[in-house]
Amino acid sequence: VYEDNQSGTVSILGGTGEQGRGLGRRLAMAGVPVVLGSRDAGRAETVAEEMRTADPGIDVSGASNEVAATVGRIVIVAVPYAGHRELLSGLAGALAGKLVVDCVNPLGFDKRGAHVLAVPEGSAAEEAAAVLPDSRIVAAFHHVSAKLLLEGDGPLDTDVLVVGDDRDAKDEVIRLVEAIKGMRGIDAGALRLAAHVEGMTAALISVNRRYRAHAGLRVTDV
Ligand SMILES: NC(=O)c1ccc[n+]([C@@H]2O[C@H](COP(=O)([O-])OP(=O)(O)OC[C@H]3O[C@@H](n4cnc5c(N)ncnc54)[C@H](OP(=O)(O)O)[C@@H]3O)[C@@H](O)[C@H]2O)c1
Repeated sequence: VYEDNQSGTVSILGGTGEQGRGLGRRLAMAGVPVVLGSRDAGRAETVAEEMRTADPGIDVSGASNEVAATVGRIVIVAVPYAGHRELLSGLAGALAGKLVVDCVNPLGFDKRGAHVLAVPEGSAAEEAAAVLPDSRIVAAFHHVSAKLLLEGDGPLDTDVLVVGDDRDAKDEVIRLVEAIKGMRGIDAGALRLAAHVEGMTAALISVNRRYRAHAGLRVTDV
């Protein structure tokens, strides 16, 4: 069971999607109370109910993104990049003082595969920092496959690169990462490096296509 000195709810904005459901499921399986947020509270409630039916005993509920942002002690952002800036701008008040964990990869897809989109601030995580000046922003979980999060309950065998400018916030996120069986959190530096972490996902998606895999990362010698 996840133990944290300030244990509390983890909310997931865009929690009805694959990545949000996957992270929510694994965190809830580790004993973390999870609230899935959505633009439509009813949709989030339905998804949460399906998850409780599939994995009895997990503490997952659904709410609007606004309520999720308000009740979460840690708030994970798992919406497509296209909706990222607008959603977070509207929640700046609710997210003030919170630890916000951004896993958004600003990617486009064309006939040559995945590619990285230009973000004025440099990365999705820095965009979050720009629109949420009163929140602590950490970026993590970019390379974790939703498919693997959603399937089975065995260990995940993957590392999670964690970047941010607040060491305590990163350590808190590393503890959260490590609540999930098989996952290890690695402090990979400052928030200005988020573009490289997000962009690496385009290469991993290419690996997945070539090898029909759900590739993740392992950092060696650490
Ligand atoms: N899928 C993966 O394996 C994976 C892995 C690592 C990181 N990520 C990142 O995680 C994020 C979510 O990925 P996903 O595959 O879960 O995406 P998704 O299923 O397409 O979207 C997630 C949720 O976001 C909400 N949403 C969609 N468009 C929105 C908009 N314009 N504004 C606000 N909310 C919107 C939807 O929820 P409601 O309609 O209920 O509001 C949707 O269920 C992406 O940024 C992706 O790069 C994904």
